[in-house]
Amino acid sequence: MSGLERLRVGLGERSYDVLVGRGAKNELHGLLPPGARRAAVVTQEGIDFPVEPGVDFEVVTIGRGEAEKSLATIERLGRFFARIGLSRSDVVIGLGGGLVTDLAGFAAACWHRGTPVVHVATTLLAQIDAAIGGKTAVNLPEGKNLMGAFWQPAGVVCDLDALDTLPEAEWRSGLGEMAKYAFIGVDGLAEMELAAQVAACVSLKARVVSEDETESGRRAVLNYGHTLAHALEAAGLAEGEGQLRHGEAVATGLVFAARLAARLGRVGPEAIERHVALVSSYGLPVALPRGADPAALVELMRRDKKARGDLSFVLDGPRGVELVGGVPEQEVLAVLEEMGA
Ligand SMILES: NC(=O)c1ccc[n+]([C@@H]2O[C@H](COP(=O)([O-])OP(=O)(O)OC[C@H]3O[C@@H](n4cnc5c(N)ncnc54)[C@H](O)[C@@H]3O)[C@@H](O)[C@H]2O)c1
Repeated sequence: MSGLERLRVGLGERSYDVLVGRGAKNELHGLLPPGARRAAVVTQEGIDFPVEPGVDFEVVTIGRGEAEKSLATIERLGRFFARIGLSRSDVVIGLGGGLVTDLAGFAAACWHRGTPVVHVATTLLAQIDAAIGGKTAVNLPEGKNLMGAFWQPAGVVCDLDALDTLPEAEWRSGLGEMAKYAFIGVDGLAEMELAAQVAACVSLKARVVSEDETESGRRAVLNYGHTLAHALEAAGLAEGEGQLRHGEAVATGLVFAARLAARLGRVGPEAIERHVALVSSYGLPVALPRGADPAALVELMRRDKKARGDLSFVLDGPRGVELVGGVPEQEVLAVLEEMGA
């Protein structure tokens, strides 16, 4: 076990460990619930990172891309669980990026009204964010992540060996979320080695989730940079072939959040410089993608499921990063225009 970091997400009886480091997958068996006799491993073609759960297991693969994150896939997984006789005391293992862990988590939440799930996260984004915290979801034609459940895993493996095969675009996407952590409380990220970076991000996420599991308050800080990112995604400017990945959209959203906070007098202009410097050092975009329409983005941000009808953003300020409601539309438009739309 040497060289592995074990971080705890403290949620009373539902507390669990996140193992970070090279070779962490060898400890998978120790994270399974003691009663599990069988596992259903949910993964994708192309994720060449086999696991040995130490109990009987069957593997089911799902497709790639956001279109796969659907109720139809949940039904397919349920029928697979039925075929292999997965019981409520067995375990689902989500082996993949955030798409797999969101689907495996939701399928586990529904299977027999709640079956344990353990995630083996294989993208940087899933290791530092998606696999931790218990948010699971699928998309509807009307919007992303509209149906889901809070379903905490029984454990999470963040094995850095999995990242050796990660395509460049997926790295960049993960770095967008990592940049977010640098602005919401993880200090000195740039000076750390990868394992320490992942552990520091996991540790902050674990702390925030422990304080606010269902996102009624403090957990909103994890959405720093996400309001614009969701609007870019909803406008079809992200996620598709050759378009921005989620973390890239978040990176642009971070710069937007700094510019907006400065415009509202909440932070000084040096905050913009810090955001632009970090985001560009990761090779991520600091301006809006070509074709972005500020008025359309404002409309989409107004409809963001966390906005409650007005324009709300997670912004830095004298009390730190917090949710700020009732931001005037003309200020938002002005910042979007500055950002090159
Ligand atoms: N639940 C949450 O809290 C949360 C948080 C953030 C994002 N998400 C969700 O996560 C999803 C995005 O996750 P993602 O960025 O990990 O993308 P992803 O899961 O779609 O993976 C991206 C691509 O990388 C491939 N891949 C995965 N691991 C690999 C590896 N080790 N080597 C080579 N290829 C590999 C996948 O097959 C896929 O083609 C979105 O659906 C988003 O909504 C959820």
